[in-house]
Amino acid sequence: MKNDVFAALGNNPVIPVLVVEDVAHAVPMAKALVAGGLTALEVTLRTQSAMEVVERIANEVPEAIIGVGTVTRPEQFEQVKKAGAKFVVSPGLTPTLAQAAKDNEMPYLPGAVTASEIIMAMELGITDLKFFPAGTSGGPAALKGFSSVFSEIRFCPTGGVKPSNMEDYLSLPNVATVGGTWLVTPDLLAQGDWETITRLASEAKAQAVAIKSA
Ligand code: 3PG
Repeated sequence: MKNDVFAALGNNPVIPVLVVEDVAHAVPMAKALVAGGLTALEVTLRTQSAMEVVERIANEVPEAIIGVGTVTRPEQFEQVKKAGAKFVVSPGLTPTLAQAAKDNEMPYLPGAVTASEIIMAMELGITDLKFFPAGTSGGPAALKGFSSVFSEIRFCPTGGVKPSNMEDYLSLPNVATVGGTWLVTPDLLAQGDWETITRLASEAKAQAVAIKSA
């Protein structure tokens, strides 16, 4: 059976990519995003507190589908699963990482940006991919090129995606969702501006849904 990672992510059309330094921000941030209608949240393993942030959201915000990004080592799959992660994102892909995802029965969204990387993913049974860094890897034009050759592959572009170019990506048939950091900036977190985070999430969702249903 096809491994439908985007279904495991609740078919959310936008995935907030989160860089959280202060554990105290975890729960109000997650609640603000969920209130804005975005439930699949990717906490990047780029901060000391990332694992605790995942634990808190997993325990205290059950409506969120909490996942972990920036996973680059196989042993991290077991660690993030214990912390409560429901999906894993990597910037790239190796057979070792794909095996760790299988061993841990973890929905897995690894990155690929070249034809050879996409073919390797297919050989490993992976057809749902991150496209990162999207902006500098050819952007929508590259994804459009891949759609005719790799019709079964679906992408989540991240890296340089924002409201002003979201339509260029999401209007492509092989783009299932987009991800990005614009919804939760360091300033908004520092100010505890949960209302703005909810507003940005709800605007992004409305924009994405309108594009996908056009
Ligand atoms: C990612 O991890 O997916 C990217 O760093 C997000 O890139 P952005 O900051 O351009 O949204």
